[in-house]
Amino acid sequence: MSGEYRNAFDSSISDREGFWLEAAGGIDWTTPPTSAFTGGRWFADGELNTCVNALDRHVDAGHGDRTALIYDSAMLGTVRSFTYSDLLDEVALFAGVLVKNGVNVGDRVVLYLPMIPEAVVAMLACVRIGAVHSVVFGGFAAKELAARIDDAEPTLLVTASGGFEPGKVIEYLPIVEKALALTRAPKPTVIVRAREGITNEHSWLDWDEQLVDAVAAEPVSVRATDPLYILYTSGTTGKPKGVVRDNGGHAVALMWSMHNIYDVGEGQVMWTASDVGWVVGHSYIVYGPLLAGATTVLYEGKPVGTPDAGAFWRVIQDHGVRALFTAPTALRAIRKVDPHASELEKYDLSSLATVFVAGERLDPDTYEWVSRTLDRPVVDHWWQTETGWAICANLRGLEPLPIKSGSPTVAVPGFQVGILDARGAEVDAGTEGNIVVKLPLPPGTLVGLWNDEDRFRRSYLDTFPGYYLTGDSGYIDADGYVYVLGRSDDVINVAGHRLSTGSMEAVVASHPAVAECAVIGIHDDLKGQRPSGYVVLKAGETISEDQLRTELVAMVRDQIGALATFRDVTIVGALPKTRSGKILRKTMRQIVAGEEYGVPSTIEDPAVLDALEKLLRR
Ligand code: COA
Ligand code: AMP
Repeated sequence: MSGEYRNAFDSSISDREGFWLEAAGGIDWTTPPTSAFTGGRWFADGELNTCVNALDRHVDAGHGDRTALIYDSAMLGTVRSFTYSDLLDEVALFAGVLVKNGVNVGDRVVLYLPMIPEAVVAMLACVRIGAVHSVVFGGFAAKELAARIDDAEPTLLVTASGGFEPGKVIEYLPIVEKALALTRAPKPTVIVRAREGITNEHSWLDWDEQLVDAVAAEPVSVRATDPLYILYTSGTTGKPKGVVRDNGGHAVALMWSMHNIYDVGEGQVMWTASDVGWVVGHSYIVYGPLLAGATTVLYEGKPVGTPDAGAFWRVIQDHGVRALFTAPTALRAIRKVDPHASELEKYDLSSLATVFVAGERLDPDTYEWVSRTLDRPVVDHWWQTETGWAICANLRGLEPLPIKSGSPTVAVPGFQVGILDARGAEVDAGTEGNIVVKLPLPPGTLVGLWNDEDRFRRSYLDTFPGYYLTGDSGYIDADGYVYVLGRSDDVINVAGHRLSTGSMEAVVASHPAVAECAVIGIHDDLKGQRPSGYVVLKAGETISEDQLRTELVAMVRDQIGALATFRDVTIVGALPKTRSGKILRKTMRQIVAGEEYGVPSTIEDPAVLDALEKLLRR
């Protein structure tokens, strides 16, 4: 590697100031930063408004008639387009609604919304007035919503009367009601967006009524280091981590990524088939494409069944999509239903340049199928809620590199990726270890965890001083290509959704018949991973495995959400543990996966042996 990529990477490290200040030139500042990185913060003396960068500046440049957002609902069979001027008007007006309901600079606003344009409008409205949004994925149950409300302590909560899932309606208001009843935080004002066919009989404020006498709000300039949003993600315990993103670094990084990674610019169409409740949705349904003056597609639907396995190809054709960003699990779902891609014949995909995937490793089998089927570059790239944008990618706009199946290619400029062994020593090329990023992290990455500096340090910084711990393990080959093999902790990825086995264990352990339990991630052909629960009953309990499974599945759905896809329950005599009582989840994972594992010294206990055999027999 000696071309554009190498030059950019090297100067992002050796000339950090020059490189990132130049990147900062892609953003409109009310006060331009004089330095890139000082005192541990990016663009510390700069001031800007991120909403102005996403909307106003394109309108001011004469591009108000360009399409900003296309809402395509496969659930309702409708399509609605918003020009940059339309979206700016809606955002400024809703920002006025926030102001008149007492939302001030720095206040938090929780958004619990399905994939509707109002989700984008509400996010940008918060940003316009310097408030901090925290979007909660609409598939999370009341308890998860409550945990986020308690941590963020919002002044206001915006929700909808419901969402549509294939074959069923999800009523949001009973969930919000239950969540608020569970919270200790002061009760926020609630605004509800009524949805067609889903009743809204609550006395909470109505979105449309609120707009009637609202006055469009002017943008508020904030410091680059001020928080833009909090996004909760699963850690290894049941308590979600509130990842905090700042304004300046985020805008600079995402703007840079649009051209250099995705090769999408003004007037071109990007479709990220995710959900605004996940980081991928934040960065590439909302902020990235709008900062770049591109068109973003907001798709309410599934890859299959809405109505068929040609849904993705239809959206690409109808909206002239240039870059598709999806999760491998969605592509596996399409392949499962339509293995010969016969649906493809019905559509014209000539606009499509590149397919990007993330959320989980792109397995070589799926990679082969998709690249053969679509005859386009299929680019795996690796990132996390914490980083906000790709750590490793094939930078299609900067310099496309050869694709190696199974690898998300190389470190993105700014990310000094390395592999350390358990003692913190660097390992040789090809040797597996902990994937770390040398500090400082580039702009756009997390600046901390909301209200929890201590957990931030413990989770990411303390294990290997001077490095950010990604929680993933993998290796780097002799060409500098990174291979991400999986998490080295108790976080699992189910259908591209990041979940904590710890939070599922907390639910399972609360069942009256359960003495102790372990939930581990096991391989799933469609969803990548799924949770599998192993339970030890209290002495004298006689509940059958089937009955226990039925009850536990219902409890996890009720307390975490259906998206956990918790279905496997096995009763075991005991769990394998260390002498100090720590459950050997890694050993369990290895046994279930048929991998080699070290035999712990406690193995002589017959109950443990029985448990392990039971695991092995599955
Ligand atoms: N609101 C409420 N419930 C939701 C939901 C939401 N937003 N999203 C999912 N659920 C529910 C589903 O209705 C389903 O409930 P059920 O068990 O009662 O049927 C459950 O959660 C699991 O849903 P899902 O993960 O969608 O599984 P599926 O088997 O219906 O579909 C896929 C499988 C692969 C098609 C689907 O998981 C998918 O599209 N994944 C891609 C995810 C993605 O793009 N992630 C990107 C993150 S980067
Ligand atoms: P999330 O924070 O939900 O984006 O999940 C981040 C985690 O998903 C990472 O730590 C990885 O374990 C996994 N992940 C995301 N993208 C990839 C990828 N391209 N390859 C391998 N793992 C990935």
